[in-house]
Amino acid sequence: MTSSNKAHWNSRFATTDPEALTWFDPDAGITVGLLERFGGGEISDLIDVGAGNSRLVDELLAKGVKDLTLFDLSDEALAQTRTRLGPRAGDVAFLAGDIRDWQPKRQWNIWHDRAVFHFMVSDEDQAAYISNLDLATRAGALILLATFQPGGAGKMQRLAGCAP
Ligand SMILES: C[S@@+](CC[C@H](N)C(=O)[O-])C[C@H]1O[C@@H](n2cnc3c(N)ncnc32)[C@H](O)[C@@H]1O
Repeated sequence: MTSSNKAHWNSRFATTDPEALTWFDPDAGITVGLLERFGGGEISDLIDVGAGNSRLVDELLAKGVKDLTLFDLSDEALAQTRTRLGPRAGDVAFLAGDIRDWQPKRQWNIWHDRAVFHFMVSDEDQAAYISNLDLATRAGALILLATFQPGGAGKMQRLAGCAP
């Protein structure tokens, strides 16, 4: 793990209002819709890789989704989510680590990543990410990745036609 990356992300989350982050999405409905559509109806047993302080977990908890894990390099982002959730945080597992050198201790049925994989720009980082994805997911798991494209927008935008 490169501590500079961790310092970068911790600083980003500590110094920016969540709503002002360029990738902030107040409504994770599109993601939830995709999970419901491709996850066979019921969502459970999900790891959100690079969860940041995303509101996806709020929506999943509101739907009664069980077995939620939030994984992120930034303990600051995870702490913000824990604070925001209050007592509901007890229904969520929080894991701080670097996806590139993590050693998963279990497997999940759903792997969700919104805006992390595109930071894996070297062959080495991509191989490490894929290896951990493989180790941490069961056969037949649903993998949902949302990434920027090269030369993409400076601010994440909703994908037209992506709603289920
Ligand atoms: C653009 S933000 C997206 C956050 C969240 N998925 C969302 O949609 O709001 C990227 C996130 O990836 C995390 N991240 C970056 N590199 C990582 C790594 N190597 N391992 C784990 N998390 C990482 C950052 O800390 C940050 O929370």
